[in-house]
Amino acid sequence: MDRLVIQGGHPLRGRIRVSGAKNAALPCLAAALLTPEPVVLSNLPAVADIRTMVKVLQALGTEASLASEGEGFELTATLACAGSEDPKAPYDLVKTMRASILVLGPLLARFGKATVSLPGGCAIGARPVNLHLEALERMGAVIEISHGYIHASVKGRLKAIDHTFEKVSVGATENILMAAALAEGTTVLRNAALEPEIGDLAQLLVEMGAQIEGIGTGTLTIVGAARLHGCEHAVIADRIEAGTYLCAVAAACGDVVLDRCEPEHLRSLLDLLERTGCVITEREGQDGRQLRIQRECGQKLRSKDVTTLPFPGFPTDLQAQVMAVMTQACGISVINEGIFENRFQHAMELERLGANLRTDGHTAIVAGPADLTGCTVMATDLRASAALVIAGLVAQGETIVDRIYHLDRGYAGLEKKLQGVGARIERVGGGKV
Ligand code: UD1
Repeated sequence: MDRLVIQGGHPLRGRIRVSGAKNAALPCLAAALLTPEPVVLSNLPAVADIRTMVKVLQALGTEASLASEGEGFELTATLACAGSEDPKAPYDLVKTMRASILVLGPLLARFGKATVSLPGGCAIGARPVNLHLEALERMGAVIEISHGYIHASVKGRLKAIDHTFEKVSVGATENILMAAALAEGTTVLRNAALEPEIGDLAQLLVEMGAQIEGIGTGTLTIVGAARLHGCEHAVIADRIEAGTYLCAVAAACGDVVLDRCEPEHLRSLLDLLERTGCVITEREGQDGRQLRIQRECGQKLRSKDVTTLPFPGFPTDLQAQVMAVMTQACGISVINEGIFENRFQHAMELERLGANLRTDGHTAIVAGPADLTGCTVMATDLRASAALVIAGLVAQGETIVDRIYHLDRGYAGLEKKLQGVGARIERVGGGKV
């Protein structure tokens, strides 16, 4: 099993190119199930979750190929889904990636039946799929759960609904948006999630021939089509990857320019980092927009409170990374996790590195600045792993981050990108450390 070995205490200076958004790429890949025609998706991050989703699509009767782009941190997928007699997303794949549930809506809409393994719990909480299933049932699907699988079918086409999600859910909004694109009639989805990745999926569906109004708002109106066609689409930049590097510079000091990012998708983090004392500059680059972050060595950071909320609120996927930053800020920071029930597993590992913090239910209290010192820490989930890397970049001496397969699910070339800005970080095979 690979580990990352980090020699901390060195500022970061240089440029990092942001890859495509994993969380936009996954629903876009699932959307390829909506048409038999070829769908070409580019700017996909070269991460394990993308390869897993492609395997899921292949298991469902999709011809798929992946080609490397540029420096190898991005991929282009060419997909053509003829379908299969018995479309089934098996447990072995779904258990490694919960987002596999996103195939349910498109499969039902196009083939009238689907079998998808129940995703089950995960490290950050229970994460049920009731909101997905309730809406599909209202669209006419008959859903039965047995032997750990969701068995869904519908006679004829799914029917349009006027539906208000009881709770804001990114995945449920995406699943039902895709289902509605091939349903009979005009669907209205209210209390839809506003995350930029949903806008990207909606844009892809429009390019496939769907009629969607209200993109970027909480009410989506979708005129169902009898069929959709193929297209070429490049996914948006990964705001969470960009945010992770911004947090790395805020914590470890330095001066880094991020190329190809979308500052509007990161407004809550940018405001927070500016309030801590980091200098952030936005400008138009040759290759998309750029963000520059500066924190001089020795410059004090001010602690700030953070509450995670659905977009445009502060993203839960950056909570762990910001906690690592707050260990370096002067004063007390109160961090409230408003989305997931069990998302502080990085806190204990940060404490092992010397952070001064306490958690109670959904709240963490961080007192800084703490002198972090390197040790071996264990990654528990994707974003927790990123927080440990950030803390390792700050800590004096050597930090070893174990179980980095979590990181490989969502960060394309993390250690190479960090090496490019002067970090002393390397990947070592499990047996060699
Ligand atoms: C997506 C992101 C994930 C991010 C999360 C919140 C992807 C692939 N993953 O996950 O990185 O952390 O949004 O921004 O895009 N819920 C229910 N019932 C449901 C569905 C969700 O109760 O049927 C709850 C969840 O347990 C959670 C909250 O709603 O507490 C939000 O979850 P949701 O927005 O659905 O997250 P995901 O789509 O799973």
